[in-house]
Amino acid sequence: MHAPEHVDEKVKIGAWLSNKRSSGKIVFLQLRDGTAFFQGVLHRDAVSEEKFNQAKELKQETSLYVIGTIHEDSRSKFGYEMQIDDFEVVGESENYPITPKEHGIDFLLDHRHLWLRSSQPNAILRIRSEVIKATYEFFSQHDFVKIDAPILTGSAPEGTTELFETDYFDTKAYLSQSGQLYEEAGAMAFGRVFSFGPVFRAEKSKTRRHLTEFWMIEPEMAWMHQEESLELQEQYISFLIKNVIDNCSRELETLGRDVNVLKKYTQLPYPRISYDEAIELLKDNGFDIEWGADFGSPEETFLANNFDKPVFVLNYPKAIKPFYMKRHPTRNDVYICADLLAPEGYGEIIGGSERDTDYEYLKEQIIKSGQDIKEYSWYLDLRKYGTVPHSGFGLGLERFITWITGQDHLRKTIPFPRMINRIYP
Ligand code: 4AD
Ligand code: MG
Repeated sequence: MHAPEHVDEKVKIGAWLSNKRSSGKIVFLQLRDGTAFFQGVLHRDAVSEEKFNQAKELKQETSLYVIGTIHEDSRSKFGYEMQIDDFEVVGESENYPITPKEHGIDFLLDHRHLWLRSSQPNAILRIRSEVIKATYEFFSQHDFVKIDAPILTGSAPEGTTELFETDYFDTKAYLSQSGQLYEEAGAMAFGRVFSFGPVFRAEKSKTRRHLTEFWMIEPEMAWMHQEESLELQEQYISFLIKNVIDNCSRELETLGRDVNVLKKYTQLPYPRISYDEAIELLKDNGFDIEWGADFGSPEETFLANNFDKPVFVLNYPKAIKPFYMKRHPTRNDVYICADLLAPEGYGEIIGGSERDTDYEYLKEQIIKSGQDIKEYSWYLDLRKYGTVPHSGFGLGLERFITWITGQDHLRKTIPFPRMINRIYP
């Protein structure tokens, strides 16, 4: 319902009853039509006694047509109210499981197909949809072409330990961990490309940052070095946040997310520190960590807390990053790469790098990573026929949404989460 366009007009709206209260003479119906939550007011003298009694007995999540007039109402948290003249029940609802009382998270996740109707999931998933829309806008403004990557693949760009394997006729296939290698092929044909689709990781880790199926945005840019890619990354993140601030203020309010905190994150540039500096910072502050180790959640949280914006950590050790990253020109122990760490304890949201361009080197790297070189012969062709400097990155959509909406767990930011113990509903 676009209430502002229908003030003082008589309308008929299909809606669900999300809650209800009544005094002797009035029934207040909390309604949801899909676009918004709003209140309908039914006075006893506006309808027959039978109708008024029926309204008092309506059950939660009954679907109905409500007929009435929209009024502006500054006292209502929705800003508008509907004076109801009449209603027709469309679908009854007995014993709706999610009542206004508190429920445990497992119960809610078991009822995710219904929980989507509640105000918090509704707000989070509307913000997700806005971020998706803004993503297409940003990349289209910057001349990117969307190149869809396959889901069924023969390669494991991010390592072989987290693969979902499936039968594929007489052979085996894996569910894609990342579209990146295909985007590299796309970049050589179109210059700037991106993919946006589900990717899969057989993560055994049961953390609040890991899903087994998540959505990733993976841009890849030909003729672009890492420094320029970092600039693009921060512009993209800032653009997404601005769009959420501008177009989702009601949702942010529902979630209790302070817009002034988010506004800080739209200011560029974001700070950059090297992995070496990060290790020193951690050591100086009592962390038991040595150069070469990967960061866990406590380390990422501590590092990000030193800044009031997201921070790029540059040039990680080779041993903890994938085979395709570009070698450093003067050091043989690190890559030209960066992770972007979000503030407030949300950790890594982007991983990216410049890509190595040398045929023989990459061939060796693939063999060293224990993979079948035959699966990568197409990828190596990209280094055989007109190789050029190129860079790219991947943003985990749910990690980003979790941070922007201030949630405590990734599972709330995807319609139907898939985790180690959950594939229902
Ligand atoms: O750092 P990752 O593994 O990088 C890649 O896959 C590269 N191929 C991207 C590229 O350069 N094109 O993953 C990228 C991002 C992470 O920063 C994180 O936000 C998210 O994907 N991510 C996950 N999100 C949810 N659940 C998981 N299990 C995730 N693993 C990574
Ligand atoms: Mg990563």
